[in-house]
Amino acid sequence: MSVPAGFLDELRSRLTLSEIIGRKVKLVRAGREFKGCCPFHREKTPSFTVSDDKHFYHCFGCGAHGDAVGFLMQHDNLAFPEAVEILAAQAGMQVPRENPQDAEREKGRRDLLALMDETAKFFQDCLYEPRNRQALDYTHGRGLNEEIIGSYRIGFSPEEPQLLLSHLKGKGFSPQDMLAAGVAKTSDQSRGPYAFFRGRIIFPVTDRRGRCVAFGGRILPEHLRPPDRGSFTPPKYINSPDSPIFHKSRVLYGEAHARMEAGSGGTLLVVEGYMDVIACAAAGFKGAVAPMGTALTEEQIASLWKMAAGPVKEPVLCFDGDTAGRRAAERARDRILPLLQPGQSARFAFLPEGEDPDTMIRTRGADSFRSVLERALPLSEFLWFSLTSGRLFNTPESQAGLKKDLLDQVTRIADRDVQQLYRQQLMQRFSQQFFTSNRFGTDQGGVRRARPSGSSLTGGARGTPKKPGRPVDHRKTLSVRILLAAVINHPHIHDEIEEALGCLQPGDAALDRLRQFLVTYLTANPLTERHKLLEVLIQSGFEEEINDILNESVYVHASFCGPRTLPETVASRWLAFWRDLEAREQKTPLIKA
Ligand code: UTP
Ligand code: MN
Repeated sequence: MSVPAGFLDELRSRLTLSEIIGRKVKLVRAGREFKGCCPFHREKTPSFTVSDDKHFYHCFGCGAHGDAVGFLMQHDNLAFPEAVEILAAQAGMQVPRENPQDAEREKGRRDLLALMDETAKFFQDCLYEPRNRQALDYTHGRGLNEEIIGSYRIGFSPEEPQLLLSHLKGKGFSPQDMLAAGVAKTSDQSRGPYAFFRGRIIFPVTDRRGRCVAFGGRILPEHLRPPDRGSFTPPKYINSPDSPIFHKSRVLYGEAHARMEAGSGGTLLVVEGYMDVIACAAAGFKGAVAPMGTALTEEQIASLWKMAAGPVKEPVLCFDGDTAGRRAAERARDRILPLLQPGQSARFAFLPEGEDPDTMIRTRGADSFRSVLERALPLSEFLWFSLTSGRLFNTPESQAGLKKDLLDQVTRIADRDVQQLYRQQLMQRFSQQFFTSNRFGTDQGGVRRARPSGSSLTGGARGTPKKPGRPVDHRKTLSVRILLAAVINHPHIHDEIEEALGCLQPGDAALDRLRQFLVTYLTANPLTERHKLLEVLIQSGFEEEINDILNESVYVHASFCGPRTLPETVASRWLAFWRDLEAREQKTPLIKA
């Protein structure tokens, strides 16, 4: 969009800069100017000044500088045309269009936006109608309070196929626009248009600026809705079709809220569903967004990076802690890898099996969710683990295979600097793994197993001598978690590993209590199965430890400890892992079990 310079001058002179900035930043008058704490960097004493006469703001701390348009672009993460349009609307001005076609298209979009906004209002009102009480009760039952319902504009679409349509007609909207916006559709039998969303909880989807562009609709549970027709089971969620104002692959649900959060330094989170975004927001994780029932697209990744503030942009992607979640994480990794840029990456968090952020926050609390986020793996780390975990590299061929896999992935990174650094880091790790001469490198079978190394998560690099006083606990606790996870997921191995488990020293009081309990309980009850053991552990107060241990962010480091490993292989792999740990941690020669 090119805007005539004259228009921008006129716009600037009609607006009072301090008023526009004053809505977002606390300003105090200082002579002819205003002062405040700079919204673009952290500071305690104000070095941010705003001059209404000169029509610009300037920060003496970080050098941020610009006019009203620049401020909105920087502060609200907006593109130039968006910022101009918002300000023009505030000043009561019409942005000039270059040609009649553009003006026409723009007018069409504005009409659809108005229609969507009216529709959202209609659905919001319906939610509070006495005859839709069951829908409101359902939203309350899912933990949504009025504040959240209001700020996410949650609504309800009535069953009647014509109600919305006649409401919109009364407001002057045409049936063509209702069809174009996707709120109405026509059936094949060439009857008239009818409402697309019926009998569903409505989640309005907004664009970056918070304007409603689409809806997601969730069905009510079976006991609260009319019986299904015949054998047809309606889908749990339906979404608006693409339209001139909505492109499913570009929009992220919750983006308008998340962008504000990101602008003030908050973490961006990518979760799976509408309810997850809302549950996160309600629990204080206001940077949550979700794609619309699809895998994350390149456009969505780009827009996440664009809205993230600060020099390192690393949205945290949350995945289920099961095999499907792990696979989804690998797909996301494959999609993101080519797009990496200096300062632009992603982290991977894994929830406990069977939980989504919504259920996790509600049943285990915001703090356990936060700790899952804190354990999120950097992309480079996840790449290493996903290519190594659970595989044995005991032959030159398998080692060369790993090397090839690693390099194949690295070559997919388009940015040359990032690619180069990935190659360096991974190759270094690779050679530390296999070619540093050290006496701990093999277990008795001559089997080398890839191990975590070189990250904050897992402690120091392997093969480097321990310096006195250097903390190694991180890595050790991780190893202990792996071992305990394997025992809990595969209690039948207890017989074989009993002695080793008995002398394991976790170096962490809670983990040690759990270990002792396992030893005692499994000795007394040798045939205990996994689900029974879990029950007993929870009854005995180990729920928190279990949540901490039994999840993909532990399994990802050593697949043998996960619940789906072939049962026959667990014991020997457990022992191999344990021997390595003993050797490494106690610096004693390999212990024979
Ligand atoms: P889930 O099936 O995991 O549902 O779908 P959920 O988010 O946990 O929903 P609740 O908690 O039961 O209400 C995750 C997301 O996938 C899309 C939606 O965007 C949903 O939020 N989805 C799911 C669909 O588009 N269609 C469906 O039929 C199901
Ligand atoms: Mn859910």
